[in-house]
Amino acid sequence: MSRKKIAVVGAGHVGASAAMWLALKELGDVVLLDIVEGTPQGKSLDLMEAAPVESFDSRITGTNDYKDTAGSDLVIITAGIPRKPGMSRSDLINTNTGILKTVVEGIVKYSPDTTLLIVTNPLDVMVYAAWKYSGLPARKVMGLSGALDGARLRAFISMELGVSVEDVHAMVIGGHADEMVPLKRYSTVSGIPVTQLIPDDRLDAIMGRTKKAGGEIVALLKTGSAYYAPSAAVVEMAEAIIKDKKRVIPCAAYCDGQYGVKDIFIGVPAVLGASGVERIIEVELDQQERAAFTASVAAVSGLIKELKIGE
Ligand code: NAI
Ligand code: 2OP
Repeated sequence: MSRKKIAVVGAGHVGASAAMWLALKELGDVVLLDIVEGTPQGKSLDLMEAAPVESFDSRITGTNDYKDTAGSDLVIITAGIPRKPGMSRSDLINTNTGILKTVVEGIVKYSPDTTLLIVTNPLDVMVYAAWKYSGLPARKVMGLSGALDGARLRAFISMELGVSVEDVHAMVIGGHADEMVPLKRYSTVSGIPVTQLIPDDRLDAIMGRTKKAGGEIVALLKTGSAYYAPSAAVVEMAEAIIKDKKRVIPCAAYCDGQYGVKDIFIGVPAVLGASGVERIIEVELDQQERAAFTASVAAVSGLIKELKIGE
């Protein structure tokens, strides 16, 4: 069986870290592409020199030419500018839409049947744009949101209770923005609802911290945004698809009536397998959760309208 081919576009913080996790997990051979000459080549060579130490046989190559991505089974797109202190994810919209158009067109020219995993912010809008620019079926285009936001929530719950992260499950839906919707009713520790383990005021503080967790890191780093957890989370999604695992991972997926919304990519629990987003799971939302989800959908729809890519 030949190895899968995975392209990672953008050899910056998230892209290079994703290449590292992909190689460590031997999910396939990795082609790292960036617009800056030397960066993807240098980082790939550096990773190849780590292979003997970490005993992985994945090949990592760096390039500035889309031809080298030909026949990719999966493409992770991280190209774009990240947030600086004081910037919201939506401040990135115009620059990153332009970058995304070039990237997606370059990719589908050489990999017309690929699956796209979008990381670039503002996430839900960029996924929509990538879908439009690519011409791919909606199930083959999705974006990183709940895998990361849920991981952050899991980390905070585990820190609060002093229990293993392995036993903590948590769900965050909605857009990857401050309006995201952490669902405390669907967050558990070994099946025990967190609502039974953590007092309400503490739980609300943890949910609030989760919504602002991206900004918390931006404020600390000052020159960019988070990349270790984001790259690990997007590789978790890649693994589910490459290994056809049918994992249930909330991500920005195309809704065609699910959760009462249409023609939008937004964070919802999705079954990820070889065909991409194979199914969306609709969980019951109470009045408050539904209102928060509706507000999140409205924020994403507003940005899509502003961009005029939906027309
Ligand atoms: P970075 O600045 O470290 O890397 C971005 C890379 O994209 C740079 O190497 C740059 O040269 C490259 N690039 C720019 N234009 C390009 C083009 N036309 N073609 C190819 N490459 C191009 O940024 P970082 O930290 O890796 O973040 C990347 C993006 O991911 C940002 O938009 C950031 O906001 C987003 N992000 C999204 C997350 C999510 O959960 N969805 C989490 C973390 C980051
Ligand atoms: C994050 O959540 C900035 O979207 C990025 O860290």
